[in-house]
Amino acid sequence: MHSGLLTRSFRKTYPVAIRGQGVWIYDADGNRYLDFAGSAAVNFIGHGDQRIGAAVTEQLKQLEFVHSSQFVTPIARQFADEVLAFAGPDFSGGAVFFVTGGSEAVETALKLARQYQVEVGQPQRTNLLSRKQAYHGATFGAMAVSGNRKRKQIYEPLLRQFEQVNTPYCYRCAYGCIDCAGKYATEVEDTLSRKGNDTAAFIFEPVSGATLGAAVPPDRYLQLAALTCRAHGVLVIADEVMSGFGRTGRNFAVEHWSVAPDIITCAKGIASGYAPLGAVIANKKVVDAISGGSGSLVHGFTYNAHPISLAAGQAVLAIIRKQNLVCCVDSSEGETGKAMKTQLQRLLECAAVGDVRGLGLLWGVEFVSDKQAKAPFAPSLQFSARVASAAAKRGVMTYPMQGCIDGELGDHLLLAPPAIITSDEIAWAVDQLSAAVNEIHYEVSHP
Ligand SMILES: Cc1ncc(COP(=O)(O)O)c(C=O)c1O
Repeated sequence: MHSGLLTRSFRKTYPVAIRGQGVWIYDADGNRYLDFAGSAAVNFIGHGDQRIGAAVTEQLKQLEFVHSSQFVTPIARQFADEVLAFAGPDFSGGAVFFVTGGSEAVETALKLARQYQVEVGQPQRTNLLSRKQAYHGATFGAMAVSGNRKRKQIYEPLLRQFEQVNTPYCYRCAYGCIDCAGKYATEVEDTLSRKGNDTAAFIFEPVSGATLGAAVPPDRYLQLAALTCRAHGVLVIADEVMSGFGRTGRNFAVEHWSVAPDIITCAKGIASGYAPLGAVIANKKVVDAISGGSGSLVHGFTYNAHPISLAAGQAVLAIIRKQNLVCCVDSSEGETGKAMKTQLQRLLECAAVGDVRGLGLLWGVEFVSDKQAKAPFAPSLQFSARVASAAAKRGVMTYPMQGCIDGELGDHLLLAPPAIITSDEIAWAVDQLSAAVNEIHYEVSHP
């Protein structure tokens, strides 16, 4: 049936989602799907939580919106303090800028970094350093620092080009995993030695998101990279749009490696999908430079600090705290995180699964046609997309991606279920996934 809605693909028929409850999404044909990817690592507290509806309704009754150039609101002030506290002592004296999603958060962070450098007398810092195989968003600034080739390629002629270093990827380590933490960090050092005086900020995903499928960096790499940035006067921006707000079993993923960024970007989990919300958390150094300098941000969106989104975010954070969800998700201590880790390892029994990696509830499953050689499937086979369809038919939603090896080659799935998922639900989802992988592997091996 033709609809006026511009969907992401003209070739795909989408189920019509009408209701969500807990880990389940229900469609108009009466099917239900276990949300094993949290849509795209968005939902953390589960679907259909009436407490969020109540908080949003309460805010709607009071005040729906004011413009941030004219007013502040009680909810914006309160929630900013709560988010700062959630970010921990490294952000004491800092400040939070609320936006409507991840791309806006990244744009804001990049502009904030540039303004910081101008305020501290470094106007020549007009470059940004980022990493290959990263994704930071769909807007132009965010795309320019992204390395996800498929999502960027046709827009490249419209974008500024910046320096990019490799992202650690243990399964296919560029350095054979021999002192790779030091070697990847040396790439940052070498680039900044050449361009350090021109560079405003280094942006990275602490745990890779969709593009590399939850690749976890080797210990010491992020500390070393952050130290190098500091030495060169370059701000450190952790893009925690996917990994933040508990997803990896810490409030923010950088805490796994005791790294204190200057700026954190977040979205997705902050409101768990109940409203469009993102945030940029800046430390005292950044805030002081601007407040004690020109005194105002050269940046803003109409929907900054939208009260309705903030009401959703505040209620979500209260639930994360009350239900102790971040601890539950921790891979070594928490019930849910441990179950996810253990159950997903079972997928390695499938002949087409080469690697299972991740932390907390952010996991990647990489497919190979030959385990020994780590050979990928031909991209034309659309292996991960077909596994995702086969899993959806069995009632499990996943997030399929292609291009983890070089932007073209390599198939994987991203898995990031809500933190309220039970061990039984995880086990059931892994059973379905395993059957879906074997089914598609059989199909491609017997054309
Ligand atoms: C690490 C990261 N940064 C930024 C974004 C962009 O966020 P949004 O899609 O909300 O604009 C994403 C989206 O997946 C992401 O994973």
